[in-house]
Amino acid sequence: MMIHIQQNTSLKKLNTFGIDVNAQAFVSIANEKELITVLENNKLPLFILSGGSNMLLTEDVNALVIHINNKGISTKEINDQEILVTAKAGENWHDFVQHCIQNNWGGLENLSLIPGCVGSSPIQNIGAYGVELKDCFISCQAIDTKTFEKTTFNLDSCKFGYRDSIFKNEAKNQYIITEVTFKLSTKNHNFKTSYGAIEAELNKQNITVPTVKDISKAVISIRQSKLPDPKVIGNSGSFFKNPIIERSFYEDILKEFPEMPHYPISETSVKVPAGWLIDKAGLKGFSKGNAAVHNKQALVLVNKTGNASGKEILNLARFIQNSILEKYGIHLEMEVNIF
Ligand code: EPU
Repeated sequence: MMIHIQQNTSLKKLNTFGIDVNAQAFVSIANEKELITVLENNKLPLFILSGGSNMLLTEDVNALVIHINNKGISTKEINDQEILVTAKAGENWHDFVQHCIQNNWGGLENLSLIPGCVGSSPIQNIGAYGVELKDCFISCQAIDTKTFEKTTFNLDSCKFGYRDSIFKNEAKNQYIITEVTFKLSTKNHNFKTSYGAIEAELNKQNITVPTVKDISKAVISIRQSKLPDPKVIGNSGSFFKNPIIERSFYEDILKEFPEMPHYPISETSVKVPAGWLIDKAGLKGFSKGNAAVHNKQALVLVNKTGNASGKEILNLARFIQNSILEKYGIHLEMEVNIF
């Protein structure tokens, strides 16, 4: 088996922010056997790269960067209404979702057009428009980077939360996810269209009984109207998480900002949209050097000129955190992983 390890390679094309840093060593793997061979022979620290769509690189990576590029989709019928679909980690997420939609398999349509790959989707339990990955997730397979053993994680063992899982906490950096299995519907789909923007988009098109494809199209059109295409302008989607705060604290700040939207989380806590906080602080479209706050969605930071360094974007992010803390007393947590 010929596995080519490159030295001193630019990662600019492999992260959606388009940050130009170098990897000390770089290898792209096409299957699990290659991955294990690379792991067995490696002496450098490891850095796992999937779609590069949820990371901000602020300096050169002094490690072996392993680009997960295994492909393939397989299925197993469960009954006449449900199917198990397994995708290899290197499959592009949106292409995979479109494959499901072409086959009229329901469940992932609200997650259309999310950048990234299948393998990283469980790490932050990707979510959009009222659906999270965990709603269709059955299991994933992962390889332990130390023992090279294969492990299966099911729904419970992944400990999914809002943009969170075991892979961001106690199992951080320990595993490389190689494939993910979902349970999807083949008929009697259970659509989630209650998210305001989806309803409005379907109404606009006079669709009363939507198909899997209709919902995907609606989601794509909403996302395209607000979220910048990383191929055109570098970005990593939502840069911050929507903060969850105490309800009593929310009621206090409501006195000063009566229009602040919120979503109930529990009896005692609510989630507030970070995009709204940043927007109302007057920072939508704000720029600092080559980095900027997107002018249509304030939760997204962009590489405005294409030449931003990771540090410039990080400085802008810290400036936003400080401004929001000062104005509302709310701490914004970064959603994007900083390296
Ligand atoms: N808002 C503003 N100004 C802005 C942006 C938002 O006032 O510049 C207000 C909106 O009007 C709305 C509220 O904030 O009342 C929420 O905005 P939106 O529905 O666009 O969603 P979001 O909270 O900004 C979250 C996810 C997105 C996901 C959308 C749709 C997080 C951190 N972000 O964004 O996920 O696509 O909901 O479900 O939870 C991502 O994680 O990268 C991502 C794009």
